[in-house]
Amino acid sequence: MRYGRFDDEHREYVIERPDTPLPWVNYLGCEAYFGLISNTAGGYSFYQDARLRRINRFRYNNAPLDASGRMIYLRQEASRASSEPLYWSPAWQPVRRPLDEYECRHGLGYTVIRSRLGAIAASVRYFVPLGESLEIWDLSLTNLGDRRAQLSVFSAIEFCLWDAWDDQTNYQRNLSIGEVEVEGGVIYHKTEYRERRNHYAYFACSQDPVGFDTQREAFLGPYRGWDAPAALESGTTSNSIAHGWQPIGAHHVRVDLPPGRDSRIIFLLGYHENPPGEKFDPPGSQTVNKRSLLPILERYRRPAEVDAAFQGLREYWDGLLSRFQVRTPDPDTNRTLNIWNGYQMMATFNISRAASSFESGIGRGIGFRDSSQDLLGFVHLVPTRARRRLLDLATTQLPNGGTYHQYQPLTKRGNHAIGSGFHDDPLWLILATAAYLKETGDGDLLDELVPYDNTPGTETPLYEHLQRALRFTLDRLGPHGLPLIGRADWNDCLNLNCFSDTPGESFQTTANKDGEIAESVFLAGLFLLASQEMIGLARFHGRPADADGYRQAAAEMERAVWKAGWDGRWFRRAFDDSGRPVGSKECEEGQIYIEPQGICVIAGLGIDDGRARAALDSVAARLATPHGILLQQPAYSRYYLHLGEISSYPPGYKENAGIFCHTNPWIMIAETRIGRGDQAFDYYRRINPSAREAISDVHKCEPYVYAQMIAGRDAPAHGEAKNSWLTGSAAWAFVAMTQWILGLRPEYGGLRIDPCIPSSWEGFTARREFRGRVLRIEVRNPHRVCRGVAEVKVDGQIVPANIVSTTDLAEGEHSVEVVLGP
Ligand code: GLC
Ligand code: GLC
Repeated sequence: MRYGRFDDEHREYVIERPDTPLPWVNYLGCEAYFGLISNTAGGYSFYQDARLRRINRFRYNNAPLDASGRMIYLRQEASRASSEPLYWSPAWQPVRRPLDEYECRHGLGYTVIRSRLGAIAASVRYFVPLGESLEIWDLSLTNLGDRRAQLSVFSAIEFCLWDAWDDQTNYQRNLSIGEVEVEGGVIYHKTEYRERRNHYAYFACSQDPVGFDTQREAFLGPYRGWDAPAALESGTTSNSIAHGWQPIGAHHVRVDLPPGRDSRIIFLLGYHENPPGEKFDPPGSQTVNKRSLLPILERYRRPAEVDAAFQGLREYWDGLLSRFQVRTPDPDTNRTLNIWNGYQMMATFNISRAASSFESGIGRGIGFRDSSQDLLGFVHLVPTRARRRLLDLATTQLPNGGTYHQYQPLTKRGNHAIGSGFHDDPLWLILATAAYLKETGDGDLLDELVPYDNTPGTETPLYEHLQRALRFTLDRLGPHGLPLIGRADWNDCLNLNCFSDTPGESFQTTANKDGEIAESVFLAGLFLLASQEMIGLARFHGRPADADGYRQAAAEMERAVWKAGWDGRWFRRAFDDSGRPVGSKECEEGQIYIEPQGICVIAGLGIDDGRARAALDSVAARLATPHGILLQQPAYSRYYLHLGEISSYPPGYKENAGIFCHTNPWIMIAETRIGRGDQAFDYYRRINPSAREAISDVHKCEPYVYAQMIAGRDAPAHGEAKNSWLTGSAAWAFVAMTQWILGLRPEYGGLRIDPCIPSSWEGFTARREFRGRVLRIEVRNPHRVCRGVAEVKVDGQIVPANIVSTTDLAEGEHSVEVVLGP
């Protein structure tokens, strides 16, 4: 069953009923001011840091779900026969009065909710203009009836007292500090501005309001909710000024609509900073200095400016997405690659794993491994931002090559609370840097001087950071010559050095072993990949001699994997603290894990001797389900002290045998490494959100973005997704499909063309911008093979290797014709 439909022409998903199984969310903003917005206008916004600069409150775990957010109410003022007031929310929530028509269009960086009740049609367009720290709620009302309509419009937002964690815990202070100012109909939220903050939030309106409220209880009335505010019952606000308690912003605007007429009201919610010395106006007073804000308000109160800003946003996205467009025989692939996957990668790039309906925005900052992997897919969209991010990440690296696991976006400093010790983290930086270099050819990056742990004076070229990252693994090898796992590798929940029997203790931060025994085969595979990248990088950087060392280290690691990491039919996962294998036929549960099958085959292990094929056949037989590939099997049915968090989850969820989508593309890539394009693509379709749209009642999350997890076959609700949006699945699925299945793969020498597609495909075409050239690629598959390039012509000339080198190509457009076959 579906709850809406894709509108590919407009690059929108159209939700046709408000009561989706979960709030179906979109993101607003793509630079510094961000918001989440649901299909009923719920959600919250923040400036840069979802925890420390939260604009409005959000109640997690609420019932009903998602009940407050960007609230707009309409109230019929006259010609009511009954005495009961008629009011509703054009976005359905929070009033939830049934609407005669409803539609929500989530587009790229904007959401439009349209509805009708009786003769009144309403449409609200929400977006963040490029370059601004504010969001626009652009409301249009139309009277479709034949009688004059007298309406009241009420807006409402509940301010967060900035630190979203403190805001919901520290009431003894917070209930006394809330402060606002109201001037010219604009509500300024200035809690803590009187002391150390130099930023405030504001909520403005293009019309002169007849009233306002800023004290929550004055607007709602005691013991009332957002679904039935007292102000809506009575039809008036009380011009309350918040003093502590719960500051809100609410406007009351009257609209008189003759038949057939419409009216437009623009609300602006935003964030603004003043230089510390210019906080007050007049100086010495306690009044917020609004001088630099007023021109911005003036501008966006004008509909023409709003329309121009919206147009600018659309053009921005057109430009970004046009960098890579494909046309394949599969419409779900086209839609996902051309629209939503790129869009989702922007969200993961911006927000890492910080703020979504599943990530509260109070916990995790920018994750080192997460953001490094996000970059693998994102890099072609905005290479300059990817470059900046690489340098920021490297700045949180420690002198020993290890890294902080996360950093705070506001300070860009490593997060001490979670610290370091996740032994995969540094290796991802190598992969991400290589991806950037291959996309752009910008070798100067490697010479950039970057400090360690943000400490001035410790700078070395970025290249050395990468060398230390590789060294970090080699300095930490275990009894089998495999990398020590540390707190965890990619799988946060496989905790082999933390024996926790204390309820509630964090598996992420507790370690009670020195960790000299537990090893990871996955890390060995990742190390091999990283050392292959270092070999390429060294050559590219004019340091060919370095490559020998990397080659030797890789060869030793490979020997260690074959000696201890191979289980006979698949790769083992790890060795625990007692030196027993994890992910082996010897285990009672958790006999086979997906991660090493993917990463080791991607690194090339066993491709020549059939062992890669055996491992992938084992994946197909033991882990694959119609909803995707399980993380491991058999699921852990009880808690294992020596394995940690993985066994804390009920069977079928999360890392305990859920379909952890992030890992599925690794198997797709591995399948292409052994030439099985049919199988690779089949796996791709199983988790492609668009291909799952028809089972939205099972999948439950948004059909336009990947989710982190789909419940596995051991779970009661097999196929039900959770944790949509902020997941490495987005970047990896993009990489698997574009670089390995379609086979358009940036390399140092140019764009390699090496498709491994379904044998039923007659071909595909692509438009790919690459290092200042536009490549129009046409791949034909007359013999219906999966893999094998018979011929590549660039601008009609046969090129010897199947690589399009840009060095000889002038800027501008070029045709690339490819024929597959024996
Ligand atoms: C989450 C984390 C990611 C981790 C994965 C597996 O998605 O964000 O860092 O690799 O879980 O545990
Ligand atoms: C839990 C989750 C895992 C996530 C981690 C992040 O361990 O199971 O998916 O990566 O938390 O803190």
